[in-house]
Amino acid sequence: MTKTDIVILAAGKGTRMQSALPKVLHKLAGKPLLGHVLDAAAALGDCHNIVVTGHGGDAVRALYASSNVTLVEQTQQLGTGHAVLTALPHLREDASVVILYGDVPLITTATLTKMLSAVSSNSLGLLTVTLGNPHGYGRIVRAADGQIESIVEQKDASPEQQKLCEVNTGVMALTTEQLARWLPMIGNSNAQGEYYLTDIIALARRDGCRVTSVQPSSASEVEGVNNRQQLAALERAYQRQLAEQLMASGTTLADPARFDQRGTLSAGTDNFIDVNCVFEGDVTIGSGVTVGPNCLIINSTLGDNVTVNANTVIEQATIGDRAVLGPFARLRPGTQLGSDTKVGNFVETKKAIVGPGSKINHLSYVGDAELGANVNIGAGTITCNYDGVNKFKTEIGDNSFVGSNSTLIAPLSIGVDGFIAAGSTVNSEVPAGHLAVARSKQRNISGWKRPTKK
Ligand code: UD1
Ligand code: CA
Repeated sequence: MTKTDIVILAAGKGTRMQSALPKVLHKLAGKPLLGHVLDAAAALGDCHNIVVTGHGGDAVRALYASSNVTLVEQTQQLGTGHAVLTALPHLREDASVVILYGDVPLITTATLTKMLSAVSSNSLGLLTVTLGNPHGYGRIVRAADGQIESIVEQKDASPEQQKLCEVNTGVMALTTEQLARWLPMIGNSNAQGEYYLTDIIALARRDGCRVTSVQPSSASEVEGVNNRQQLAALERAYQRQLAEQLMASGTTLADPARFDQRGTLSAGTDNFIDVNCVFEGDVTIGSGVTVGPNCLIINSTLGDNVTVNANTVIEQATIGDRAVLGPFARLRPGTQLGSDTKVGNFVETKKAIVGPGSKINHLSYVGDAELGANVNIGAGTITCNYDGVNKFKTEIGDNSFVGSNSTLIAPLSIGVDGFIAAGSTVNSEVPAGHLAVARSKQRNISGWKRPTKK
């Protein structure tokens, strides 16, 4: 296999975004536009990525400096041809090169592979699409025999050429050797005074090189982002694709238009996801899972037949089979729930390991805690895990019962079958099988008179 180098142009200003952030760092599905392009390239396998930065280059560099990407600065944006020329010294001499755009995020690896297969010493690949309204794009000019002859930019096109509907997407695949031969021959005597990369096509034809056109599998693959309206439209198009994939694999969505996946979501079958749920990072859900409306699930794993009721937030948590969560539960990082557990409304957990069958049904905070099996935590229980400086752990043995409104001051351990009377403030060990009562005694005062109005 020949080597592959990828050049991603990302030097433009992106004026229409009206933003201090460089356009290519704006996010689609939670990931910078540029990140989508880099990931599509990375899936090709061993390839070398070169990003041409300019406007906002420092921010791009700050984000990608440590990654496996070569960042090249184009100090003046003199055109797409000039941008690729800036990258040329970084290309491997014997590589095939694909030229991509940092603001065209949905290009697929499959299309890149098709592009690369069009490349040889006397052939290059050009990604084109036919549009109902081609205004603004470079037009593909073909000879009588159908061969591509050249690309003319909108501003340089004759009225006849302006009628052509096949346009240049900008994506091109060719060899380093071809780029090195033709790029220096490109001039800037055109309507915009720019060095057009597209002029390579006519130069290639003059040298007898064949130009093979490749079409993307969907229009959104080649759609660019110039403003926030286009970003929002592309976001919905992408989310729709993700929703379709999820439905095709056996998950029902109450409304595919109200589903958001910002990362990877792997799901079994027969799941039901209600409206307005957001999945972020890497989420895995089993089969038979129900997720109620308005839930946020981040970097978590849910087993089979889990029920997540409305308005629940789950982050960096592992949820066992048949667990029932929410409504309005908040599971923070480090929560590990066993099977058949319940975490109910207005319960917050953090670094909480909860054994099978245990229940925290209402209004509690359980943090830095380890609960055995079949523990019942009453409403309003608080683990006091923090003394203002250090965090301490609470351990609760199997089958323990913690009465409502208990305050468990860590470090604390409650043995197996421990029982805490409601309203207790517990700060020392409760041995197995013991009842701990740690609350003030009730006094009943007889003959008490209610206050009266003065
Ligand atoms: C370009 C193509 C046009 C095609 C269209 C598809 C050229 C001359 N024209 O036109 O045929 O139909 O894309 O969208 O290539 N960039 C740099 N440095 C520069 C100039 C541009 O990095 O000096 C980057 C921009 O950030 C942008 C991309 O290249 O992401 C395209 O540049 P732009 O000037 O917008 O080209 P178009 O006029 O859209
Ligand atoms: Ca453009």
